[in-house]
Amino acid sequence: EIDQQVDELLSKMTLEEKIGQMNQYSGFMDFTGPQPNEGKAANKLEQIKKGLVGSMLNVHGVENIKAVQKIAVEESRLGIPLIFGFDVIHGYKTVSPIPLAEAASWDLKAIQRSAEVAAEEASAAGINWTFAPMVDISRDARWGRVMEGAGEDPFLGSEIAKARIQGFQGDDLSAVNTVAATAKHFAAYGFAEAGREYNTVDIGTSTLYNVVFPPFRASLEAEVKTVMNAFNVVNGIPSTGDKFLLRDILKGKWNFQGFVVSDWDSVGEMVAHGFAKNGREAAKSGVIAGSDMDMESYHYVEQLASLVKDGEVDEALITDAARRILKVKFELGLFEDPYKYCSVEREKETIYNPKFKKDVLDMAKKSIVLLKNENNTLPLISSGLNIAVIGALADDKTSPLGNWRIAADDGTAVSVLEGLNAYNKNNYTYSKGADVVTGEKRFTRELTINNTDKSGFSKAIATAKSADVVIMVLGEHGLQSGEGRSRTRLDLPGVQQDLLEEVYKVNPNIVLVLQNGRPLALPWADEHIPAILEAWHLGSESGNAIAEILYGDYNPSGKLPMTFPRHVGQVPIYYNHKSTGRPKLPSPGEVFWSHYTDEKHTPLYLFGFGLSYTTFDFEELTIDNSYTENKTVSVSVKVTNTGRKSGKVTTQLYLQDEFASVTRPVRELKAFEQVDLNPGESRVLSFQLQDKELGFYNNEGEFLIEEGGFQVYVGEDSQAQLSNSFEL
Ligand code: IFM
Repeated sequence: EIDQQVDELLSKMTLEEKIGQMNQYSGFMDFTGPQPNEGKAANKLEQIKKGLVGSMLNVHGVENIKAVQKIAVEESRLGIPLIFGFDVIHGYKTVSPIPLAEAASWDLKAIQRSAEVAAEEASAAGINWTFAPMVDISRDARWGRVMEGAGEDPFLGSEIAKARIQGFQGDDLSAVNTVAATAKHFAAYGFAEAGREYNTVDIGTSTLYNVVFPPFRASLEAEVKTVMNAFNVVNGIPSTGDKFLLRDILKGKWNFQGFVVSDWDSVGEMVAHGFAKNGREAAKSGVIAGSDMDMESYHYVEQLASLVKDGEVDEALITDAARRILKVKFELGLFEDPYKYCSVEREKETIYNPKFKKDVLDMAKKSIVLLKNENNTLPLISSGLNIAVIGALADDKTSPLGNWRIAADDGTAVSVLEGLNAYNKNNYTYSKGADVVTGEKRFTRELTINNTDKSGFSKAIATAKSADVVIMVLGEHGLQSGEGRSRTRLDLPGVQQDLLEEVYKVNPNIVLVLQNGRPLALPWADEHIPAILEAWHLGSESGNAIAEILYGDYNPSGKLPMTFPRHVGQVPIYYNHKSTGRPKLPSPGEVFWSHYTDEKHTPLYLFGFGLSYTTFDFEELTIDNSYTENKTVSVSVKVTNTGRKSGKVTTQLYLQDEFASVTRPVRELKAFEQVDLNPGESRVLSFQLQDKELGFYNNEGEFLIEEGGFQVYVGEDSQAQLSNSFEL
């Protein structure tokens, strides 16, 4: 029925009005692009009246959205409603952990719930489309946007992509509390050379098909409504103008029925890439390749009509793009009621509704990863302790919100200090020690300059000296990761490492709580500090979640979704790498094997790793290979809680295809399951491996299942040792 309605509407539209649907403008604020050209920006509302705009981004709040929608609906010839997009990445006002942190939970239900909360709050503020989830796989912690993704693994990334899309879009897109989602950025943005933002991507077909594409495929399975293209070139072609990516793969092979939105001015940036001669050529390349909507480059609205009239672009391509966009608007219910997301009452009662707190707190607790816990330093006892709390981040109510939380208000997170003080009656003495960054810290275009001032050290050292325990909260400010925040170092910014070492000299009984948006390389801390907790940027409930974990009321269950290196020079470092021809030390002192001479080549913390306050054991790994009868290999394993506390175990299954016509990784995650176990309790888990898990893409993009041997590894991280094998 919707298809018919779309066709009917299209039949009434002029060429210019169809092109108008393909034009998206930023509203009153602009966040990540260059400042808009004033003259053109001033003209935006006039163009809405003429039916030359199909969508707005960065307009939010019911009153604002209603006012702009009114112009489109009441003053344009056909009254076609606008679709309002916004970067609702990990919450709108109530903020969940950054996506990388959520990924560390491996808890798909909690992740889905987090997206539902974001959708409910954002849609109450008039928004009907989010530019999330980012499903880019990345192996490079230097890239600032790793905070926005699910880490390095295509299987985990695919499962999380589906959970997030389901959470945003729900089962009924026309429901008032759901929003259309965007799988972004197609493609390979996470493979920017040297982790430098927007940099060139040169990537082999094998990695493209087996690593980059799977989360996008999964997003299509979850019926994602839109896909965003990427700023970067892929093997010499800007993604925005890449017919192979957008027409042949996405809309062709994968039959994507939604629409493709460009990234901010990525149409125009094809000129800077040296791919298009000018804006006109850029518009032509974009539309021919399959980029349906132009975000803020102005080239579609300015050039497409004349390109069609001059016979350089087929009008059928314009009609197809407009059809895709209109269809999503119909599915959202915008034609039935363009103001359906614009209820002032709903906005008032939904924004910052305390009912969301328990969901984001739950998500935050599950996202924390215990990296080290020597001599059971944690959990702490909950009374009678003198605790020194040190580090500027401990007292920060903004940094834990992380980056990409445009609408959230600064100062709305629970700090670690607040969380601890509210939690129990231990005696806490706070001393900042040193700032992390200096300079202006607005969300946009902020200056985050590493602090060099050590004048607060002596007070912090004195505070630590007399304490029973020192909790040091160190890491990156929330705005040191995210778009445009690539780093060359993976250390503690500023003078924090010095602070840690100075405090350690007077009191080594330190619990290090890390807050960061990417893997860091902290070998000194790993060697010296007895307890280390990876607490990322956890959002609104940050301090409360950290307090619960420190005191053991929640037993840590997070597992790293990205490898943590020992040294930045190891990057890209990732668990599912290929073997070299010389992977192992042949004999002591040997030089000619794959390694570094000045650092170990192994990670500091493995993908999939995370400790608990209890211990688990895996045994009885059995395989029932019935592939020839029913194309299934069943794997079962018994897992037991061998410690003294209840806890959640994430059982991970890795596969190694031993020989193939294109080499396969040393191991690949193919399944996982989480269960809660009481002390002494066991469970037998079973996993079914089918074609999807057993096969791979060759360099022609064909999916193959090849005969031969497979090793199965099951356990708690990517170095799991319990193994068994089978043959296909
Ligand atoms: O959605 C984002 C994208 O991820 C990066 N550039 C700007 C877009 C809109 O804000």
